[in-house]
Amino acid sequence: MRAYLDSLRAAGDLHVVRREVDPKHELAAVTAAFQTRHDGAILFETVRGAPMPVVSNVYGSRRRLCALVGAPDLAFCPAWDRLLARAPERAELQEATAVRRRIALSDLPHVTYFEKDAGPYITAGILLAGHPETGVPNLSFHRAMHVSDGELRIRIGSSHDLTRYQRAAEAKGEALEAAMLIGAAPEIFLAACASIPPDADELAVANAVAGGPIAVTPCETVGLSIPADTQIVIEGRILPHERRPEGPFGEFMGYYVPEEDNHVFEVTAATACADPVYHALVCGSPEDLIPLETAIAAKVYRHLNATLPGIVDVSCNPQLLNTVVKIDKQYEGHARHVLMAAFGAHRDYSKTCMVTDEDVDIHDLNDVWWAFVTRGRADTRSLVVPDVPGFYRDPHKDHWGRLGIDATKPWGREAEFERKRIPGGDAVDLAEWLNEA
Ligand SMILES: Cc1cc2nc3c(=O)[nH]c(=O)nc-3n(C[C@H](O)[C@H](O)[C@H](O)COP(=O)(O)O)c2cc1C
Repeated sequence: MRAYLDSLRAAGDLHVVRREVDPKHELAAVTAAFQTRHDGAILFETVRGAPMPVVSNVYGSRRRLCALVGAPDLAFCPAWDRLLARAPERAELQEATAVRRRIALSDLPHVTYFEKDAGPYITAGILLAGHPETGVPNLSFHRAMHVSDGELRIRIGSSHDLTRYQRAAEAKGEALEAAMLIGAAPEIFLAACASIPPDADELAVANAVAGGPIAVTPCETVGLSIPADTQIVIEGRILPHERRPEGPFGEFMGYYVPEEDNHVFEVTAATACADPVYHALVCGSPEDLIPLETAIAAKVYRHLNATLPGIVDVSCNPQLLNTVVKIDKQYEGHARHVLMAAFGAHRDYSKTCMVTDEDVDIHDLNDVWWAFVTRGRADTRSLVVPDVPGFYRDPHKDHWGRLGIDATKPWGREAEFERKRIPGGDAVDLAEWLNEA
């Protein structure tokens, strides 16, 4: 991540705060205010009570994520698919000697984000674990509540691969060894976002993004190798048959998840590279939602593209559990086929699915709704599927059911719905006209 931050600095995408900031609420408040005006990263050089700087919003930009996967046209999904196709079956790793020093968890910045959070949380921690039987590595984000130097409590969503790993270990009465990576390189961050088949190797995805082998070094107390340049690593074990209270916590959906009995991560060691930078991520902010969005959209895109023609791009808004598919419509009823396939493409994030033509900006829901109200009927162009489970954290079935909306132009009447345009409008350089050049 250090090299990536240097590249952001050189590109003017890293904003430095020199004033001391309080890790309790103030750091999150300043980051959230910053994110309303900038999509760059923000580096807090002096954090009260902490021996290291904190960086946030490193990945809170669609533009930067697209650049990382080689999609200058901002079409993340097709570029991500091309990258996955290049991933080797098993990760190519290169042993490296890394100088890492032991630290205590109490040395880390204890960032508390929201008013009613139970306490300080690690929000940008990526858990690396190997499947207890096959050893296939998995990378995924799991928030962690700081309890003591020896204990974290973590939330593992029920539909995630790590849940399967943990259950397999628990069935044998064993703890699952894992390493929590904080401040990993961009290829590791992106691979952790990826939702690929459960038996696929997520470190191999990192190979594809990095364009070569990943330099790794062995952990000190668990049988895993970690990307050598990770800023901070917390080694430990997820205990079997042990759940303890975790939360409340201000989740990505915008409200608090109440206290629940969740997994216990017993810390066996923590290490840092020289002059580490701690990565803090505000849940529900662009740095949480944009990476999550691109990962879900890419999964839906892959599923649809494998079954139906004319799939151009997909966007998702995870906070709204909404998916939008852009198509090159090829036959009457095509959009309805896409809706039905999209409902099945992701269990969690397709409470509503919308299909648009190619001329719609699928990242702008105003434009998507404009397409629907101008091109579609509410009665015959919508589709309700009752009684289907939705987002996994749903004890009262509030997210059950699906709503589909066909916002494409009526078949055979496309010419009537051509968007108006001003000739030369795309080529205007306003600075020239306002004497700002
Ligand atoms: C920035 C970010 C933060 C996330 N935080 C959490 C979390 O705290 N708990 C959780 O269960 N899932 C969280 N997720 C979701 C999963 O970790 C993530 O979708 C991952 O890809 C799971 O994939 P897998 O099941 O293929 O391993 C987060 C995702 C992102 C992108």
